Amino acid sequence: MSKDYWKEIYKKKVIKTDPSDFAKYCLDNYFSSAKVIIDLGAGNCRDTVFFLKNKFKVIAVDQSLPSLNEISDKKDIKKLILSNCKLIKNDFSNIDLRSYGKIDIYYSRWSIHAISELKEKQLFKNIQLNFREDSLFCIEVRSTKDELFGKGKKLEKNAFYTDHYRRFIDINEFKEKIKNKFKIIYIEESNNFSKVGDNNPVLIRAILGKM
Ligand SMILES: C[S@@+](CC[C@H](N)C(=O)[O-])C[C@H]1O[C@@H](n2cnc3c(N)ncnc32)[C@H](O)[C@@H]1O
Repeated sequence: MSKDYWKEIYKKKVIKTDPSDFAKYCLDNYFSSAKVIIDLGAGNCRDTVFFLKNKFKVIAVDQSLPSLNEISDKKDIKKLILSNCKLIKNDFSNIDLRSYGKIDIYYSRWSIHAISELKEKQLFKNIQLNFREDSLFCIEVRSTKDELFGKGKKLEKNAFYTDHYRRFIDINEFKEKIKNKFKIIYIEESNNFSKVGDNNPVLIRAILGKM
């Protein structure tokens, strides 16, 4: 969904390259025993690069993944990516996760609200099949309480198209959906997770573990 939109955005290099607050929050609170992170919908790889700088191995998946030169023009960052990161240009809901060996952290920032409910179902099933006792699934998504909800053309339940596709998540429906799949370690809905200037979206953060 919105493949060309994201491709153009990354080509123009208009997205910030410093790590998101969610990446810093996850690292500070949950990643102490982790080694391998899969960044689902990595975008311009801002969080991937942050995880690499913090000595993790990262698998960065995005169907509109920018080229190495578009990700960074810094030699040291390119070197870090080439040595400790797999860049996968593909649909993350449909990849064979087993082929990447042991994955400790499934990390999804703002990418579950970029896919349809059907793809989300496929993704959750794939992750569940590959999930281990100590795996974590870390999610940050836009909530149905966000001010952008309802803006643009309605496409499906809670999903709207402005210049790109967004499917807003209802926290109670989300809890119901994952209830027999993952254990909720932490979940919270707030408008103070990712404040940038006047922009303060209502987001849901969830850290999920093995049932
Ligand atoms: C809102 S951006 C978030 C990017 C990044 N995680 C961040 O926080 O900056 C959503 C990303 O999900 C990617 N995406 C959407 N659907 C996808 C799919 N089915 N498979 C892989 N990537 C997808 C888009 O290309 C885009 O880069």
